[in-house]
Amino acid sequence: MAWGKPPGSIDVEEEINWVRKPTPPGKRLSGARALVTGASRGFGRAIALALANEGADVIVNYIKSEDDAKRVVKEIKDIGQDAVAIQADVSKYQEVKRMAEEIWETWGRLDVLINNAGTTAPRQTSWRELSDEVVNETLDLDLKGTYYCLYEFGSRMLDLQRSGTIVNIASNVITTGSPRSPIYAAAKYGIIGLTKTFALALAPFVRVNAVAPGYMDTPSLRARKDWTEERKKWIIQHTPLRSLGKPENIAYVVVFLASQDSLHITGETIFCDGGFTMAAI
Ligand SMILES: NC(=O)c1ccc[n+]([C@@H]2O[C@H](COP(=O)([O-])OP(=O)(O)OC[C@H]3O[C@@H](n4cnc5c(N)ncnc54)[C@H](OP(=O)(O)O)[C@@H]3O)[C@@H](O)[C@H]2O)c1
Repeated sequence: MAWGKPPGSIDVEEEINWVRKPTPPGKRLSGARALVTGASRGFGRAIALALANEGADVIVNYIKSEDDAKRVVKEIKDIGQDAVAIQADVSKYQEVKRMAEEIWETWGRLDVLINNAGTTAPRQTSWRELSDEVVNETLDLDLKGTYYCLYEFGSRMLDLQRSGTIVNIASNVITTGSPRSPIYAAAKYGIIGLTKTFALALAPFVRVNAVAPGYMDTPSLRARKDWTEERKKWIIQHTPLRSLGKPENIAYVVVFLASQDSLHITGETIFCDGGFTMAAI
């Protein structure tokens, strides 16, 4: 990397297992109703639980994994919040609309939307691999899915409530590009365009921000065929905080952006990648 090892810095060979000290459950989202797309596992599940721990009732969206989604619903109810699972394919506008109608019929409003459903294009590991299928499924889910939800829920928040917060899940590829998966990079860059566009369109009543996670220890990352021990070691060695992230790390940033704590922030993207993308070491 650009600067080499700075004199006087500490060399760390092994991964550091950073553990956040427990804090009492808060009330930053007391009374809020939140929808997390793709909440049956991975980031979505961690985000849904974090929102519930701050007092939100949560709609757990999924596409295939009904049992997993129901498990997340139960976990939220165990926290003491209301929850319901809704199956809907966010890459299809009619399904997003149907989900919105269902939410307004039963809950009457939506205060927080987290556009998390997405793929990391696990089947593309090099820019040399061209596949229409990967192109379509990545753009459909990551880009169109985010757009349809922003459009449908953003309009309703603005027109019917004059309030709401939205957080889009992008990726730190928005600063690096990705020679492993160009279409994934394109989709995530697109999400930043959508974030700024809707932040302007829905202002001053609805705030729209994004989070850009780096490599996070999730089942979807572990399932990638190019995710080897060697690559993991390389990533950790080139991450200033010497750690892969955990889904919980993202969840705390999302809670911040979804809550009043970020009252004067809109159209912004917060990186959560242990410093990986700025590393000059
Ligand atoms: N993992 C990482 O290291 C990483 C890094 C940067 C960014 N991200 C981004 O973070 C987000 C979550 O990643 P993850 O690793 O947690 O993903 P994941 O484990 O693959 O989970 C994807 C979730 O999206 C749902 N889903 C898939 N297609 C859908 C559709 N058409 N409509 C509605 N829901 C759908 C899945 O539901 P089912 O269970 O029903 O299939 C599942 O709940 C994605 O946007 C991803 O691009 C991840």
